[in-house]
Amino acid sequence: MQAHYTNRVTNLSESITLAISSLARELKAQGKDILSFSAGEPDFDTPQVIKDAAILAIQEGFTKYTATAGIPELLNAISQKLQRDNNLSYSTKEIIVSSGAKHSLFNVFQALIQQDDEVIIPSPYWVTYPELVTFSNGKNIFIQTSEENHFKITKEQLKAAITPKTKILILTSPSNPTGMVYSRKELEEIAEILKGTNIWVLSDEIYEKLIYEGTFISTGSISQDMLERTITINGLSKAVAMTGWRMGYLASKDQKLCKLINNLQGQALSNINSITQKAAIAGLNGSADKDIENMRVAFKQRRDFACEKLNAIPGLSVSKPDGAFYLFINCSAINKDSMQFCKDLLEQVGVAVVPGVGFGMDGYFRFSFATDLKSIEEGIQRISNFVAKQ
Ligand SMILES: Cc1ncc(COP(=O)(O)O)c(C=O)c1O
Repeated sequence: MQAHYTNRVTNLSESITLAISSLARELKAQGKDILSFSAGEPDFDTPQVIKDAAILAIQEGFTKYTATAGIPELLNAISQKLQRDNNLSYSTKEIIVSSGAKHSLFNVFQALIQQDDEVIIPSPYWVTYPELVTFSNGKNIFIQTSEENHFKITKEQLKAAITPKTKILILTSPSNPTGMVYSRKELEEIAEILKGTNIWVLSDEIYEKLIYEGTFISTGSISQDMLERTITINGLSKAVAMTGWRMGYLASKDQKLCKLINNLQGQALSNINSITQKAAIAGLNGSADKDIENMRVAFKQRRDFACEKLNAIPGLSVSKPDGAFYLFINCSAINKDSMQFCKDLLEQVGVAVVPGVGFGMDGYFRFSFATDLKSIEEGIQRISNFVAKQ
């Protein structure tokens, strides 16, 4: 049989972060001594209180289909969480639970993007956004940020990027890969520019619990106008180390949009895993807050340690991130070709990191500090040895 595949799927690229992580795992399985700093997931275990809720759900036989958007108790827990933590007022009709924030994003793009609609993506960006936009027949409009501007878009850049075809602006704060966090003032400036337009804001707040400096501000909390145009995306993968459970959600004041996404999800997935839903309530209602804080403190200690050590290596430099668990390290003085830099690093000293080019910015690489301090120390020593030989 001769197979013919759609352009839609053949045009998709493999996620570069997942590709590097699996290459590192493969090399490790072959017996090579590999230290990986490529993964985008906490190394901590899921808090016990969440696991207990899942075990109870199984024991009680909570193992059947549920409502497509999620069980009422979970939607309530999300609604209350958004009010309590984020000053966002969403009813349970305005929330849809999906299989991870990635899936929520997929649903939003499918529901909103028509042929050639433009989506503004600040660069460097999380690798999945442009792929999903392309998959939805949209057009990626990148705004190139710079380290001097803390990897944030400026008012002038945003104004210049807007056209009559602009449909969505993506904001990711804290950011993957840079860890930068938008302040209230910066979000207010963005809100001012968007006022009077028909532009949606997709606010990806998945790293909100990992803040080391200042406070986290939800985009939708800036003003009523911003609340109405913002689709808030969040989930439990990063906040409570639940990457494998697959739970994310979107919230939007547009109930028609929610209804349409509910229809889409109802045809493609039905509901997410029933047991995960019960477990997620424990991750949202405050029961895991102590665990969340313990992880945050550990991440902060690793960030401080890693930044100090890396900045001491001649030829490398990194700005201390305010949030998330990534360092976006400038290696342009050694090699502007970040792909080559990362390949050499992996082959010569067994350290896996992700090239900046995959995130839309060459001359940098992403180092995830979501791993133990001992490995971080050893990894940075290897990077230092590698750089010394260049
Ligand atoms: C910015 C950003 N959004 C969303 C996700 C996806 O999270 P989830 O595991 O909930 O699909 C990630 C994961 O790396 C991410 O970095």
